[in-house]
Amino acid sequence: MKEKINALLALLVWGVAFPLFAQLPVYLDDSMPVEERIEDALSRMTLEEKIAMCHAQSKFSTPGCPRLGIPEIWMSDGPHGVRMEFVWDDWTHARWTNDSCTAYPALTCLAATFNPELSYRYGKALGEEARYRGKDIILGPGVNIYRTPLSGRNFEYMGEDPFLSSVMVVPYIQGVQENGVAACVKHFVLNNQEKYRNEINVVVSDRALNEIYLPAFKAAVMQGGVWAVMGSYNRYKGTYCSHNDTLINRILKGDWKFDGVMLTDWGSAHDTDEAARNGLDLEMGTWTNGLTWGLSSAYDQYYLARPFLEKIKRGELPERLLDEKIRRILRLCFRTNMNRARPFGRKLTDEHTAVARKVAEEGIVLLKNENEFFPIQPGRYKKIAVIGENAVKKLTEGGGSSELKARREVSPLQGLIEKYGKENIVYSMGYASGAPDYNRELPSGLDADSLVASAVEVAKGADVVLFFGGLNKNFRQDCEGDDRESMDLPYGQNELLDKILQVNPNVGVILISGNAVSMPWLDRVKGLMQSWYLGSEAGWATARVIGGEVSPSGRLPFSIPRRLEDNSAHYFGARSYPGDGKNVYYCDDILVGYRWHDTRHIDPLFPFGYGLSYTRFEYGKAHVDRSAYACCDTVQVEVEVANVGDMDGAETVQLYVSQQNPSLPRPVKELKGFQKLFLRKGEKKWVTLNVPVQDFAFYDDRQARWVVEPDRYKLQIATSSRDVRQTVEVVVNP
Ligand code: BGC
Repeated sequence: MKEKINALLALLVWGVAFPLFAQLPVYLDDSMPVEERIEDALSRMTLEEKIAMCHAQSKFSTPGCPRLGIPEIWMSDGPHGVRMEFVWDDWTHARWTNDSCTAYPALTCLAATFNPELSYRYGKALGEEARYRGKDIILGPGVNIYRTPLSGRNFEYMGEDPFLSSVMVVPYIQGVQENGVAACVKHFVLNNQEKYRNEINVVVSDRALNEIYLPAFKAAVMQGGVWAVMGSYNRYKGTYCSHNDTLINRILKGDWKFDGVMLTDWGSAHDTDEAARNGLDLEMGTWTNGLTWGLSSAYDQYYLARPFLEKIKRGELPERLLDEKIRRILRLCFRTNMNRARPFGRKLTDEHTAVARKVAEEGIVLLKNENEFFPIQPGRYKKIAVIGENAVKKLTEGGGSSELKARREVSPLQGLIEKYGKENIVYSMGYASGAPDYNRELPSGLDADSLVASAVEVAKGADVVLFFGGLNKNFRQDCEGDDRESMDLPYGQNELLDKILQVNPNVGVILISGNAVSMPWLDRVKGLMQSWYLGSEAGWATARVIGGEVSPSGRLPFSIPRRLEDNSAHYFGARSYPGDGKNVYYCDDILVGYRWHDTRHIDPLFPFGYGLSYTRFEYGKAHVDRSAYACCDTVQVEVEVANVGDMDGAETVQLYVSQQNPSLPRPVKELKGFQKLFLRKGEKKWVTLNVPVQDFAFYDDRQARWVVEPDRYKLQIATSSRDVRQTVEVVVNP
């Protein structure tokens, strides 16, 4: 008994005395301001400990500072789901059994939803899975601008318009970071093609840089508060973007006041002095695998490792450069792995699945619908032929770093069988590709002629044909590391469609891709949907849209040109794309995407912002709250929209602005507002679009700043960049 009392007393004394006398170091004290904690941690670290923190220790981690209890930082790709695990030192999949994920639709699909609220839910769900899997940084989202339909990674990005990408990227980041996981916006900047990406120097005007290529990154930093930015592989003004003084020190950290971590792409650092001085904080993936260089740890060979240490020791580089990097890395730690209040995350929940499905359903774009070909209600046809490899191919795999090990991926075929019944569906592959692989094309091994012959047989006997084709994330077909070689569909799909159409005219095409493709058969097919890499729920979402449970509401986040030469990058020939291997000249300047088509009067096949619905919408008369504004005002545009069709659905009201007499040439119109509106059948709603007059600005390269000129501006309420329903004119006063 006495012992028990003594033990209790001792506990009590410790319980009261310890907190009073034991002083928690400032950097571990949650109640202290973060900046003080950073300085305290920094002051305790040795030079070698600091050096260790600013480069990789494995493919996807950095070591932290074990002596001080500062944890390792763990990262994972990528924008669309949490990637599978890798072995420590190289690109071999680790073959864990618990590293599968929910595969969310690719970011082209997210952009096509035109729904920022969904973008937040997407980010939140992805961040939860990343957190549960022990990741501190998720290597996404990607917001490089879609400049050419050949670029291998467009599917990972948010389309051709800087405003759309900016609006969509902000809530994604906020959703991810609520989990105490850093988003890492990439690839900063001008990585608009994969061809020659490791070397190419992009020559672009200041105007185009500011008006087209930077805004989504700027929004990610200034509105999204992103905690990490990844540099791109290419160069700008002759210097690699990952350690580029203008881009990082002046723009990102200077003008935009970015206070997070600037990291390399994997292997995009090339020089110690530049990395040290030009704003790079963290070096990842340099071409050494920790094993082959014969030194105890080849990570020491990184530009920001031993070479940096030695230069500091020799006095060739000041230690304050290193301290500045460590401050940022510590700040990221306090936001993520040293934030004890962060939630624990969740993995593979029903909500995650629901988000993946919702984004997929809202992203699919209906492009053509002759005689109400879609929707195909169950019972309408007895024999539905489903043809094409993309009805069954796993499209969460491949593509490069955004590849995923999805816990499940429902194929379109599975979705359709579920909807229409096995007895009503007959499937034929029609064409075949090989398995996806990085940097090489693998042959399929199947006989192309017999695939075609049996598909044609199947089409002949069917009431309707649903053709699932497009691209597939194989090398050079929407994949990192290289671009497509033409806009044509691969694997003989055009010829196959031709043969199918000869035996059955009742054909609908569902294209799955992250890029525009040419469509020589367009006039002859009855229906066309642009679908995307839809992730885990692909099949269910596709079947619900085809079957009419959901009215399509996706809008094209890029223009589809009639011919490749009609696209802005290709119009100017090889100099403008892909360049000569050393330089690529962005001759299209600020006229990218619809800005190009509309200003140069080159009709696209399908315009930016376009997408049909199963229902119909009517617009009332639009009003603005005033007719004249000052530069700091916000214009309020209101319009009533009614669903006058037979089904519930969603309309995306788009607002394009045109300045009437600019002192420099401007695109004829630019998207400055949009809102997606859900309306039940028969319902009407008022939409209010608020556009700050500041958003009317252009980048005046004569003065190196954004200006809003006093002038008359046309506000165009539109359903796509080519379908303007109403125009209201306003004046901006000096
Ligand atoms: C890609 C990045 C990716 C990184 C890590 C690079 O090749 O360009 O987007 O995050 O690899 O996998």
